[in-house]
Amino acid sequence: ISSLPLFPLSIEEPMTLGTEDDREERPALVPSLFPFMPPTLYFSTANEKVELLPVEQRRLLKWKMSTVTPNVVKNIIGRSHFKVTKKSHDWLGCWGHHMKSPGFKAIGEHQKLNHFPGTFQIGRKDRLWRNLSKMQVSFGKREFNFFPRTFVLPHDIKLLRKAWEDGGSRQKWIIKPPASARGIGIQVIHKWSQMPRKRPLLVQKYLHKPYLISGNKFDLRIYVYVTSYDPLRIYIFTDGLVRFASCKYSSSMKTLSNKFMHLTNYSVNKKNSEYQTNSDDKACQGHKWALKALWQYLGSRGINTTLIWEKIKDIVIKTIIASEPYVNSLLKMHVRTSYSCHELFGFDIMLDENLKPWILEVNISPSLHSNTALDVSIKGQMIRDLLNLAGFHIPQKDDVVATCSSTSSSTSRSKPDLSADEKVKRAFYLTQRYVDQDFLSTVLDVLTPEDIRVLAESEDELSRRGEFERIFPSPTSSRYLRFFECPRYLNILLDQWEHKYWNNRMKGIQDLGSSSKSRCVHTQPINKHTHTSNSWTHIESSTSLCVCTFCVCLIFYLCAFLLRL
Ligand SMILES: *[C@@H]1O[C@H](CO)[C@@H](O)[C@H](O)[C@H]1NC(C)=O
Ligand SMILES: *[C@@H]1O[C@H](CO)[C@@H](O)[C@H](O)[C@H]1NC(C)=O
Repeated sequence: ISSLPLFPLSIEEPMTLGTEDDREERPALVPSLFPFMPPTLYFSTANEKVELLPVEQRRLLKWKMSTVTPNVVKNIIGRSHFKVTKKSHDWLGCWGHHMKSPGFKAIGEHQKLNHFPGTFQIGRKDRLWRNLSKMQVSFGKREFNFFPRTFVLPHDIKLLRKAWEDGGSRQKWIIKPPASARGIGIQVIHKWSQMPRKRPLLVQKYLHKPYLISGNKFDLRIYVYVTSYDPLRIYIFTDGLVRFASCKYSSSMKTLSNKFMHLTNYSVNKKNSEYQTNSDDKACQGHKWALKALWQYLGSRGINTTLIWEKIKDIVIKTIIASEPYVNSLLKMHVRTSYSCHELFGFDIMLDENLKPWILEVNISPSLHSNTALDVSIKGQMIRDLLNLAGFHIPQKDDVVATCSSTSSSTSRSKPDLSADEKVKRAFYLTQRYVDQDFLSTVLDVLTPEDIRVLAESEDELSRRGEFERIFPSPTSSRYLRFFECPRYLNILLDQWEHKYWNNRMKGIQDLGSSSKSRCVHTQPINKHTHTSNSWTHIESSTSLCVCTFCVCLIFYLCAFLLRL
């Protein structure tokens, strides 16, 4: 290790050897599964080449750079022929800082930013703790007990004092500034007298019995991607990073590493690690494994790793749900269209001696810097898959102009103006006092145009998931619906869709296609060469015929339901 350079070393993706033409060429657009939905832009890894779009469409591929845009993002958008822009209205994508909620008002309907308003509710350790504690009070310790005991000073000073006195003589606490990132300002203390006077402060019980590998502590960096908060759709990347904290890099550890991590490499600089360490460890150089190497290692010792992964998914879903009411209310206030926001979270998770996962913190700007070959490999693939999942559309020319003159609220993707019958349907399913699965399943019987649009969008998205796994909604995610502060119609709709079609998605896609025809969804086929024209972007609101059909059905449901009672 000592022979490695001292400076942070940035490693880029290996450039392909040979001529560009050796690389496989991929179409620039991924068609939708449905004739009434737009195609999305394709993003590639280094060993693929992306076809050039016709000039007038290529001109629209503008990206807004920010000082924090990571190289891995720059490389990938470059391969899809994006150009950098300095103007505020003509960009399609931006990978930048989080911003204050009102700032989201300026985002146009064709633009996507990598944040949702209000996610600092879980991205700041003090808020995360408060919000998860609130959930613990409402739903019990059995469901919400995966966050180490935490106190926020000065507010909780008395509680902390009491816990400290009850804790006996040998205890360890971690102190952190509430908004610290990347391990800055983290200290471990043993004595009350070591408690700094500076406030505010976060004091967290040290997980004293972590699972060790060859005597080494480690934590997991898990990548979680949310494409939408209403309906809630959460994805988890199936690989991730295992970060070892120790300096003591024993020979047995070296042997293990060689055995289990073909991909793993030394980390040259420790700056990126948000691992909880004591100050002695800070100067050390970290060491990483791929998550898949950890699964292999644990598997070889007879441990059921599927079970650990299930538990990790469980605590990720619950944590995101804890932020849901807050984010959704800000979305309603400040964001024009659900297209505009998406977000990658870095979850820091530690396994205790019983292999139970604990959430240490959630990062709303996880480091995408790469200083090892392992970083390049995992982060590169993750961001490529993420951008494909995000589903970037090529706007119509009018959209770009419209944001400029901000007076006209442009047409295509703005928040749906629900028709009267759609409102009735939503209210109907949200106001029943006694609901069971039989009743809820009727939500799919008559789909409204907006139902169809949301379901089609979700199916399209799922088909582009790459190495991401969708964890909400999933065939088993119904049980999480009760953790929502207020139930949401679209979550019910997607949940029922999973129930019905999870093991036969083709049938779901066909049924959706035929509903779209019978329910008056505009299904004009796409002319391949004119997709910047208006043809695919509109799903017309229902005609009066549809309203009638729907009312009849609703009355029918009501009667059926009352009869059952
Ligand atoms: C491992 O755990 C999963 C999830 O709980 C379970 O479905 C599976 O049967 C377990 N496998 C073994 C070999 O016990
Ligand atoms: C989280 O906690 C903060 C204050 O601690 C509160 O304002 C916010 O509403 C909470 N968020 C949720 C989602 O409950």
